[in-house]
Amino acid sequence: MQPGAEPIIETRDLTRRFGAITAVDHLNLTVARGEIFGLVGPDGAGKTTTLRMLCGLMDPTEGSARVAGHDVVRDSRAVKDQIGYMAQRFGLYQDLTVDENMAFYGDLFGIVGAERERLTSQLLRMTRMEPFRGRQAGRLSGGMKQKLALMCTLLHHPQILFLDEPTNGVDPVSRRDFWAILYQLLKDGITIFMTTAYLDEAERCNRVGLMHKGKLIRCSAPELMKRETGAANMEGAFIAAIRAVEGVVRG
Ligand SMILES: Nc1ncnc2c1ncn2[C@@H]1O[C@H](COP(=O)(O)OP(=O)(O)OP(=O)(O)O)[C@@H](O)[C@H]1O
Ligand SMILES: [Mg+2]
Repeated sequence: MQPGAEPIIETRDLTRRFGAITAVDHLNLTVARGEIFGLVGPDGAGKTTTLRMLCGLMDPTEGSARVAGHDVVRDSRAVKDQIGYMAQRFGLYQDLTVDENMAFYGDLFGIVGAERERLTSQLLRMTRMEPFRGRQAGRLSGGMKQKLALMCTLLHHPQILFLDEPTNGVDPVSRRDFWAILYQLLKDGITIFMTTAYLDEAERCNRVGLMHKGKLIRCSAPELMKRETGAANMEGAFIAAIRAVEGVVRG
């Protein structure tokens, strides 16, 4: 984080255990307002569990986190009011149309009447989804489904957007469109915290956190991470960082 930047997400030794498994292990990280932060790591590294705790959806076993000025356990309601969470498998209603899905989430968030009309039109324009308003979600392409999920998440003006692998399985052209929308949101002052399996996407983030077996093993700007590991690209940096800790573990 840049000196003087205002922290909007802060974790202190954030930990979550499931029986014998430590899914998230003493995580310490800070994200500044207006930043786009990418959490990457292999399957099972603890990315989704971290996101769920930051969104106030799951309590930590140990440690704490503050999001938008609120403690995620004590003030989880206030946290939920300030954030949008797009889950890895976001719940769209496949037999409802684009409009109907948005209306459903609008109702859920208490966004109604003229305000809902205005926001819905604005979001449909921004995502270029206007022509598909009447189409059932189940009949949309993968990329369009993700755009619809994003629109539903944005309906209540979140300050922070938590996206769990939002472009997984989406074709490269739709991924580019999705990123154009993310850049627009950043320009509007929204903070984005995302997980991704695509390392070219990690490279577009202001800072990247590398998670491995519940631990944050690196956290820096992509350029710096490449330099520190002597790798030509993020994939190389990622592999080098994991090898370094595995080497230590094996002694
Ligand atoms: N509700 C749960 N009960 C028991 N174990 C869980 C639960 N949720 C997650 N885990 C375990 O915690 C670890 C971290 O899981 P998590 O889903 O956070 O990883 P991830 O990094 O999001 O993985 P992926 O890339 O596959 O989405 C895994 O070992 C997983 O099996
Ligand atoms: Mg996950």
